[in-house]
Amino acid sequence: NKNYKLTLLPGDGIGPEIMKVAVDVLNEVGRKHEITFTYEEKLVGGAAIDAFGTPLPEDTLECCKQSDAVLLAAIGGYKWDTLEANMRPERGLLGLRAGMEVFANLRPAVVLPQLADASSLKKDIVSGTDIMVVRELTGGIYFGEPKGFGTNAKGERIGFNTMVYSESEVDRIAKVAFEIAQKRGGRLCSVEKSNVLEVSQLWKERVIKQHENYKDVELSHMYIDNCAMQVIRDPKQFDTIVTGNIFGDIISDAASMLTGSIGMLPSAAVGSSGPGLYEPVHGSAPDIAGQDKANPLAQVLSAAMLLRYQFGEEAAAKSIEEAVNATLDQGFRTGDIMQEGMKLVGCTQMQEALMKNLSK
Ligand code: NAD
Ligand code: IPM
Ligand code: MN
Repeated sequence: NKNYKLTLLPGDGIGPEIMKVAVDVLNEVGRKHEITFTYEEKLVGGAAIDAFGTPLPEDTLECCKQSDAVLLAAIGGYKWDTLEANMRPERGLLGLRAGMEVFANLRPAVVLPQLADASSLKKDIVSGTDIMVVRELTGGIYFGEPKGFGTNAKGERIGFNTMVYSESEVDRIAKVAFEIAQKRGGRLCSVEKSNVLEVSQLWKERVIKQHENYKDVELSHMYIDNCAMQVIRDPKQFDTIVTGNIFGDIISDAASMLTGSIGMLPSAAVGSSGPGLYEPVHGSAPDIAGQDKANPLAQVLSAAMLLRYQFGEEAAAKSIEEAVNATLDQGFRTGDIMQEGMKLVGCTQMQEALMKNLSK
């Protein structure tokens, strides 16, 4: 009997509501596949600010590093929006990613046939879409120095950040992306802004250099502005995308709308070894928190990614994905993916339906 030690970070807003669903699902799938989980729950984000005055307590990061994998829900909310940048909940998440050294963020955008009508785009444009966005997660403008506030020559206040990538940072994310592309459709599109930015010129050069080791993968290049347009115009042209931190943040939210809702999109953040950080692409959705309206499927699918990528538990991951499929087939829909003729349910009813399908 295998036992895995997981750190749970429910965070803020809808976080605790959707985390509960994911944990019940993990326990049930564990029962079926003879896996047990030991959980440690820790505070991060706004919840940690309220309890300890810091968005990432040392004990939380330590616990994450000591565990086999980390499942995070989401952080942030109105209550903490006026705090200075380095005291905000978001800083806790960034510290966690950096502290765990999870530099590669895998954000799949797969359009499930049941939801092809739920997208705001035409069905024939989105159906069949299967994109993997590989987002660099611990570098770029999110972490570059110098950053801060200052004064310019005119005596005016300024705010500034630095977008910087080193060769080794680009090389390692390119490597991950080529290897993923190899196992998928064999096509990799590197997305940057090398027509304007030096940092992107270096990015492109290093990706081309790494390509020498992956000649079986077809490499293409695209500017981020064009990519934002192409992902909406004709998403099926993409297989695997590799891009920097902020471009990946934006393009993965855009890609989420192909799938019907950001409430459907899971992600995995992994380093070269050690525990990964598994979290939905969406945030804490403060506008619907505490109302039993959240779609828990991105969180549940993040748990499936955890089983697959961290532990190679393919069968268990598949069980979860099949239960999600079956639940959608039966017509259960939270508000964000609601379509005519379907059954509108809240988070807890979605959980009940999922659990029934899992225990079959
Ligand atoms: P958001 O993703 O939280 O919400 C955007 C919209 O999508 C909202 O209307 C929300 O109700 C809806 N939505 C998101 N997830 C949903 C779900 N599971 N089910 C149904 N509807 C869902 O983005 P935002 O509003 O820009 O940010 C809110 C807070 O979350 C901010 O503090 C932000 O910094 C934070 N945030 C955190 C993460 C994270 O923890 N990984 C990611 C993004 C944003
Ligand atoms: C995400 C979020 C985060 C990011 C924020 C909350 C720090 O938008 O995970 O996509 O920008 O990476
Ligand atoms: Mn984002």
